[in-house]
Amino acid sequence: MSAQQMMKVFATRRIPQEGMKILQKAGGMCNLSLWDSDEPVPRAELLKGVAGAHGLLCLLSDKIDTEVLDAAGPNLKVISTLSVGFDHLAIDEIKKRGIRVGYTPDVLTDATAELTVALLLATARRLPEGVEEVKNGGWSTWKPLWLCGYGLSDSTVGVIGLGRIGLAIARRLKPFGVKRLLYTGRQPKPQAQEVDGEYVPLDSLLSESDFVIVSCSLTPKTQGLCDQTFFSKMKKTAVFINTSRGAVVNQEDLFKALSSGQIAAAGLDVTSPEPLPTDHPLLTLKNCVVLPHIGSATYSTRGVMAELSANNLLAGLTGSEMPSELKL
Ligand code: NDP
Ligand code: DGY
Repeated sequence: MSAQQMMKVFATRRIPQEGMKILQKAGGMCNLSLWDSDEPVPRAELLKGVAGAHGLLCLLSDKIDTEVLDAAGPNLKVISTLSVGFDHLAIDEIKKRGIRVGYTPDVLTDATAELTVALLLATARRLPEGVEEVKNGGWSTWKPLWLCGYGLSDSTVGVIGLGRIGLAIARRLKPFGVKRLLYTGRQPKPQAQEVDGEYVPLDSLLSESDFVIVSCSLTPKTQGLCDQTFFSKMKKTAVFINTSRGAVVNQEDLFKALSSGQIAAAGLDVTSPEPLPTDHPLLTLKNCVVLPHIGSATYSTRGVMAELSANNLLAGLTGSEMPSELKL
């Protein structure tokens, strides 16, 4: 292939070596230009880097909107994102332009479900507080009610969005002795049978659950879903967990619910913005556990995600079937 015919690819970040190797091997077919860093590409560099590109490999922290698509121009055939979430992509505009999208479903389901369970247990059983008390001398003796929290045994768990990850979370929680597994979404799911899931309206889920877990995608309908009204319907003893996207939650309302005792505790793997500023009010609360968006962060999962996103990109460039194409 002559240099002129070679397709141009812009990758907005260094990705794990499993994916980099695939991209480097494809050097005969495409010219890779990489934002060679572990930090996000500045917007101006993104707009410059994408100009004339046939393929774009991006991360969930890159907002791919009309401005970026215009900057890329008419060559752009494929966008491959190193994520299952695609709320950072202007899907309507992408579809209008006939650009294909690759993403990474399934391969991160187990890791994310596992992290959700870890966050739920850490929040409900107050692990970060306990660790802190050991270090700061607050541990004076064994006390009957000190650092008591809430257990899963005999509890009711409510899952908002019983998709791939929601179901994997439910599967993992059932063996802890969960009595009822409620879920809500756009429609009942046959696969819910596997976890004896009961499809209920959101209001019933909120008023009956001891643990409310958000694992839906971020859409215009779910943006800000967890607000004052939402928290006011939950039990005062309930624990709220979000591992979907930060924007599903109204964080001011969550702060009020947590600080007024409206709900017992919250565990968040995702926030808005990310990173959450270190002086954010939520970080002053002992009953709020915040993690830095690490749901899929195991070495092997990130390796497979990188491999999949590189293969999606190359398939999109050659017009062949992608291992994981988002149906637009
Ligand atoms: P799926 O598409 O399998 O699941 C998404 C779920 O969201 C579906 O069950 C869908 O319900 C539900 N949903 C959509 N709209 C609504 C709504 N209006 N009300 C209630 N539920 C709704 O995706 P995954 O399970 O693979 O991933 C889910 C999300 O998790 C991703 O979009 C991403 O944002 C987040 N994620 C976070 C990670 C982290 O690191 N914390 C890691 C990976 C993913 P229905 O089927 O009824 O439409
Ligand atoms: C995703 O894939 O959408 C997660 O947020 C990161 O793995």
